Amino acid sequence: MATTPADLDVRATMPHEHRTACDTMRAALLTEPISDADWERAAPSWEPHTSFTAWDGARCVGHAGAFHFHTVVPGGERVPTAGVTRVGVLPTHTRKGLLTRMMHQLLLASYAEGKAIASLRASEAVIYGRFGFGMAGGSHALSIDTRTVRPLRGAASGSCRVLQIDEVLDVVPALYARVATRAGAVDRPGFMWRRSLQHLLDRSKPEFVVVHSDADGTDDGFAHYRLAWGENSIGANHNTAEVIDLFGDGAAAELAVWAFLTDIDLIHTITTNSRPIDEPLWRAAGDMRAVNVTSRFDEQWVRILDAEAALRARSYRPAAAVTLSVIDPLLSDNTGTFRVSTDGVHRVSGQADLTVGIAALGAAYFGGTSWHELWAAGRIDEGSEEAARRADDLFTHWPATWCGTFF
Ligand SMILES: CC(C)(COP(=O)(O)OP(=O)(O)OC[C@H]1O[C@@H](n2cnc3c(N)ncnc32)[C@H](O)[C@@H]1OP(=O)(O)O)[C@@H](O)C(=O)NCCC(=O)NCCS
Repeated sequence: MATTPADLDVRATMPHEHRTACDTMRAALLTEPISDADWERAAPSWEPHTSFTAWDGARCVGHAGAFHFHTVVPGGERVPTAGVTRVGVLPTHTRKGLLTRMMHQLLLASYAEGKAIASLRASEAVIYGRFGFGMAGGSHALSIDTRTVRPLRGAASGSCRVLQIDEVLDVVPALYARVATRAGAVDRPGFMWRRSLQHLLDRSKPEFVVVHSDADGTDDGFAHYRLAWGENSIGANHNTAEVIDLFGDGAAAELAVWAFLTDIDLIHTITTNSRPIDEPLWRAAGDMRAVNVTSRFDEQWVRILDAEAALRARSYRPAAAVTLSVIDPLLSDNTGTFRVSTDGVHRVSGQADLTVGIAALGAAYFGGTSWHELWAAGRIDEGSEEAARRADDLFTHWPATWCGTFF
């Protein structure tokens, strides 16, 4: 007899079920079951992690989880965040409402844990809007021609050193924590570093970390990069470097790291999967056409879990107050009208300037999607173009929001 949705159970995952849940999620994402060696490395990341699974009898058929970390918001405060991850339902069990049930439990649990927002990276852009996630900030993949990008303007003076492998874990996580301060940046738990630096640390790939220090000798930027000889590259002399991470204490420090990378002998192209949409390299380049956007990604999907706490945590530009009426069918505490100004955020009654669903608030939260864009795209339920512009006067924030961490 065919299974009906009523026969399927959704519940918190028990610790001894983590590996099964991991294999289910990997199968949904079209990858092989995890090997013993990889599970040994991955298991610690399943411990401090909120996890819900779907079951058809004894068979695990779906998973949705969340890491616990903080996200920088405009003004520099860090808000507690549910980093939604490891989402998948086996193809035998899709479209029976299992993700809906797991996601609702995950969002309710995350709110109860005191998280102000949930954030995720989506495999497909059509999945998460229905759960109240809005696209809060994008990123660009770049391809850079190192022969024409130089000379670069604006690079800080100082010096660069390439780290020895045994220095990397002592230097890089602490430097990242100090300099990754754009709105949207997240703190990276140790397991994320072990994963992203794995090939460098186990010497299995030609990966390196360069650190830039300012004129006083204080480290202020770094890049983690990988080199590759191109096919027939000795004759063609065309090799590529891939930048995995590049963070600095402001644009000048990042440009100093770019100046180092774009000057490495034998490298003619640098690619990178994720840079902010206002990457300074473009305008700093000798020839701006040396910096090509090869794709754009809807990087940050944000779901506001506690509207009052989230709105209070960020800063605003000096401008007239705006009232937002927010509708949230799942987390009813968020439904209400908020007066937002540089004097604070207060619940009020009466007519609002803009009426929006919780997904629109998530999209606009970091200033990475303008209220005007939302208005123009029909994503504001009620309110005028003029009110959307006034809301932008308060919410706009530079540099552009960008996370740069995939989870
Ligand atoms: C995405 C995924 C988890 C959805 O799980 P699911 O259990 O089928 O989702 P639900 O049944 O709860 O669907 C809820 C609604 O979303 C829609 N939906 C879900 N996934 C969708 C998709 N990939 N494309 C279009 N619509 C989708 C459903 O049609 C349904 O719509 P309805 O309410 O109008 O009927 C599942 O398809 C999957 O595992 N995909 C492959 C792995 C993946 O992409 N994971 C996400 C990683 S970020």
